[in-house]
Amino acid sequence: MKAEEVKRVVIVGAGVMGHSIAQVFARAGVEVDLVDIREDLLTRAMERVQGNLKTLVDTGRIRWDEAPAIVDRIHPGTDLAAAGRRADFALEAVAELPDVKKQVFQELEESCPEGTVLASNTSSLDIFDIIEVRDPTRLVCAHWFAPPHIIPLVEVAPGPRTAPETVAFTAELIERIGRRPLVMKTFVPGYIVNRIQHVIISAVLEMLVNGWASPEEIDLAVKLSLGIRLPIVGVAQSLDFTGLELVHEITSGMGLTVPLIADKVKQGHLGASTSRGIYDYGGRSEQEILRDRDSRYLELLDQLERIGAFKPV
Ligand SMILES: NC(=O)c1ccc[n+]([C@@H]2O[C@H](COP(=O)([O-])OP(=O)(O)OC[C@H]3O[C@@H](n4cnc5c(N)ncnc54)[C@H](O)[C@@H]3O)[C@@H](O)[C@H]2O)c1
Repeated sequence: MKAEEVKRVVIVGAGVMGHSIAQVFARAGVEVDLVDIREDLLTRAMERVQGNLKTLVDTGRIRWDEAPAIVDRIHPGTDLAAAGRRADFALEAVAELPDVKKQVFQELEESCPEGTVLASNTSSLDIFDIIEVRDPTRLVCAHWFAPPHIIPLVEVAPGPRTAPETVAFTAELIERIGRRPLVMKTFVPGYIVNRIQHVIISAVLEMLVNGWASPEEIDLAVKLSLGIRLPIVGVAQSLDFTGLELVHEITSGMGLTVPLIADKVKQGHLGASTSRGIYDYGGRSEQEILRDRDSRYLELLDQLERIGAFKPV
């Protein structure tokens, strides 16, 4: 099956993630069976969808008359087997407990048509190690970010036996419903973003434990610096602006060799100053590159000031 032929999906788990992922599929015109173990949790999930849609209408993201059709495309229920039988794609977003995931995937494999891709939204579990299915080629991770109906990224990560077609299909489907798939070479716990976030949170907790700064001071410091740079140059590209020679010296001083950076330095590709570093700037002068970067910084800074980003939510 091709991603554009998908008509109906099953989302298992209607919690923080599941209800909102269901909404994304439904908004893209896909019928969704939203499955949970308790009726009251499904009722709460549909209330959350209504609340999300109201915000989208109030902020002009969707028209008010689009909302009812989105809700109508979400079919809440507790019968996983029945939902699995009619699914063209399955996504699990149940509690982060190995035994629960195991049971859900067994039920999905038994009920879903042969070859249906079975995806997991797990944050940290190595489901490829935990889950026992007859056909592991159709097992893949599709890791969303809260709230899924707003944050565009979905990290797609294969296990050791995932078929390349499974990965391609999942990425195409995610793109079709208006999200941004990022296909990793392999699954690692935490994927890309949570691994980075983990380091940041650890550093913040260390500062709080030692009383070096208050929570409010830490957040303001981050928003007034990284908060402006990261959206424009990310992390890896920011090293091109630091200068790779300096980065190489610092990392070497720490006893860490990064072959990618050592090679660039050897070749004289030092970053923005030489129009080539981790990124290739296509022969543009340093001044042109900096103008491009800085005009985006200034634009973003204006927008952040305008929306009150430097005050707490
Ligand atoms: N919350 C986040 O920010 C976030 C972000 C990315 C990924 N994740 C991952 O998504 C998954 C779900 O997280 P969440 O925050 O939505 O959890 P949640 O607790 O809000 O929701 C989980 C839902 O799964 C249901 N459930 C449990 N067992 C079930 C079963 N056997 N069949 C059907 N439904 C069942 C629960 O009743 C609950 O409604 C986890 O694997 C988590 O690691 C969470």
